[in-house]
Amino acid sequence: MASSAVEKLQIPFPREDVLNISPVYAKLRERAPIIPVTTPTGDPAWVVVAYDEAKIAFSDRRFGYYTHHDPKNAARMSDAAIHSHPMGGMDFEDQMVRMRKLLTPGFTPRRMTMLHEWVQSLTDSCLDDMQAAHDKNPGMPVDFHELLGFRLPVLVITALLGFPIKDGDYIIALSHRMGATNNGSDARAAAAELTEYMRELVVQKRDNLGQDLISDFVRAQNEDPDFFASRPLESFAAGLVFPGHETTVVRMDFGVLYLLSDPARRDWLMADPEGRIDQVVEEVLRTTSAHNYGLMRYANEDIEIGGVTIRRGDLVIIAESAANRDPAMFERPEEFDPTRKNTTHLSFGHGSHRCLGMSLARMELTTVFLSLFKRFPNVRLADDPSELRIDNTRVGGGVDHVMLTW
Ligand code: HEM
Repeated sequence: MASSAVEKLQIPFPREDVLNISPVYAKLRERAPIIPVTTPTGDPAWVVVAYDEAKIAFSDRRFGYYTHHDPKNAARMSDAAIHSHPMGGMDFEDQMVRMRKLLTPGFTPRRMTMLHEWVQSLTDSCLDDMQAAHDKNPGMPVDFHELLGFRLPVLVITALLGFPIKDGDYIIALSHRMGATNNGSDARAAAAELTEYMRELVVQKRDNLGQDLISDFVRAQNEDPDFFASRPLESFAAGLVFPGHETTVVRMDFGVLYLLSDPARRDWLMADPEGRIDQVVEEVLRTTSAHNYGLMRYANEDIEIGGVTIRRGDLVIIAESAANRDPAMFERPEEFDPTRKNTTHLSFGHGSHRCLGMSLARMELTTVFLSLFKRFPNVRLADDPSELRIDNTRVGGGVDHVMLTW
């Protein structure tokens, strides 16, 4: 494997607390913005820990987006079947850009305003379930993660992609297995099963196109049979489940954890909910570090950056949560402070692959935080957040429960 990254530190770095990132990042940043590390698969990589260099790695097209000149021999970030290895040869990124153009009209802020009422009604029904669980076992904590934080994004992505609602749990279970970092054969089996499911769904949809994203894919392919030349349509459809779901779940869970771990934060928000919610959502996005990995790029050529030379083919891991806590960019970066003026975090990435679903994600987070605190004004955490642990066996990380009481 061609690489110049010296094998040194092992990721993921140890972390004591779900609400804070590993202290190793700050120590490394004092040393250099880009550091050689070893991944859990034993492969060499570079980890970017500073804001400016992270922004460059996101936007400089010499850092290829899941593309590699020799994908079979490329370094891997983990054993997961998604977000851990190249998705194809050099034409994959061009294909991604075309798919992005196709999907963009479905994600405009205007479209999201239209979807808001629907997301609100889904949220209300999840809150009804939380109330029912509370009434069934008075005095016992209720799991926000199970009944809302996890549930709502499943319902939303199911409708957006256009698979039957009854299949939602099955699809998400497959997506979970694909994201496991420690069982490569099972992760790959789950990826193959999800792709097969999507293949059959596409066959059914061909005769019955709807207003969903998979139907949009089929329309694009009908107009241009080469639209999915580098990677089949069903693989792209399968690839949308994870980014459209896991990312949102963890921000909901962490938002509730941040806001309730110090009730003064919730009180500050609810003193002017509509006026302050946007600031709160941005600070939740900046501070949340859901996983202990990062976003991947492969160098398309030798690149001088941050005092090091990254060789063609090297794996570069952008630790966006470390960049979001770079003191050169954010004052008192460790503090959760929704009143901060600078909100230019990198949680949605930056540049040509910046998150396509960010308007949707912001709308979901806004709806959930406001609805939860309006419905249950006395809600509080049932567990000490310092007892919670990030799951390093999942590339998306996250927590399994957020127990609430009121
Ligand atoms: C709070 C929730 C979310 C967060 C934090 C998030 C974060 C991100 C980030 C960091 C990227 C860039 C990845 C990179 O450059 O390597 C990205 C890309 C993407 N996200 Fe999101 N995302 C969220 C929600 C969503 C949702 C709800 C959807 C869709 C339903 C979505 C769809 C996508 C897609 C399709 C891309 C790839 C864009 C491209 O390659 O051009 N995301 N997201």
